[in-house]
Amino acid sequence: MTRFGIGYDVHRLAENRKLILGNVEIPHELGLAGHSDADVLIHAIIDAMLGAVALGDIGQHFPDTDEKFKNADSGELLKKIHELIKSKNFCIGNIDSVIVAQKPKLSPHILKIRQRLAEILETDLDLISVKAKTEEGLGFTGNEQGISAYAVVGLEKLQ
Ligand code: CDP
Ligand code: ZN
Repeated sequence: MTRFGIGYDVHRLAENRKLILGNVEIPHELGLAGHSDADVLIHAIIDAMLGAVALGDIGQHFPDTDEKFKNADSGELLKKIHELIKSKNFCIGNIDSVIVAQKPKLSPHILKIRQRLAEILETDLDLISVKAKTEEGLGFTGNEQGISAYAVVGLEKLQ
C-alpha cells in the first residue's frame, strides 16, 4: 500500500544569501533567506515525507527557534527524516516536485538536483522528479520576492 504526503514551502529572496535548491548551490545574484540554509525544495519534500506517515511537519522536528538548526544543511535534515521513515518500515516509492521561481533558469541544474536528492535518499534517480515553473510574473514569486516549492511523496510499507 502506498501512503502519500504533500509538502509546500516558501522563502524570501535576499541579498548576501546563497541560493540552495535540493542541496545544490545555484549561481544567482540573490539567495533564499531563512534560519537554516533555506532550501525550499528540501523543506517541501521533508513535509511531504512526514505527511505521508502523519508525523507532523518540519518545524516540529527541527524548530527554527533552536540555535542548533541555524544555517543547518537541509540535506542533513532530509537524511534524518529519511532515517525516521525507514525506522517506521517505509521506503521512498517516488517523489514529484515543482519549484516556482521566476528566475534564475533552473533547467540546466535540474539533473544535478535530482542526482543529489537520489544520493541523499540512497534511491534511484528515476524515482525523483523535480520540475521548474515561472509564475508568469504574477505575485510574490513572479516579482522575485521569493521562491516556493511543492512536493508529493509516495512511501511504500516494507513487510
Ligand atoms: O510554459 P509554461 O507557462 O507552462 O511554463 P513556464 O513557467 O513559462 O516555464 C517554461 C519552462 O521553463 C519550464 O517547463 C521549465 O522547464 C523552465 N523553467 C526553468 O528552467 N527555470 C525556471 N525558474 C522556471 C521555468
Ligand atoms: Zn523552508
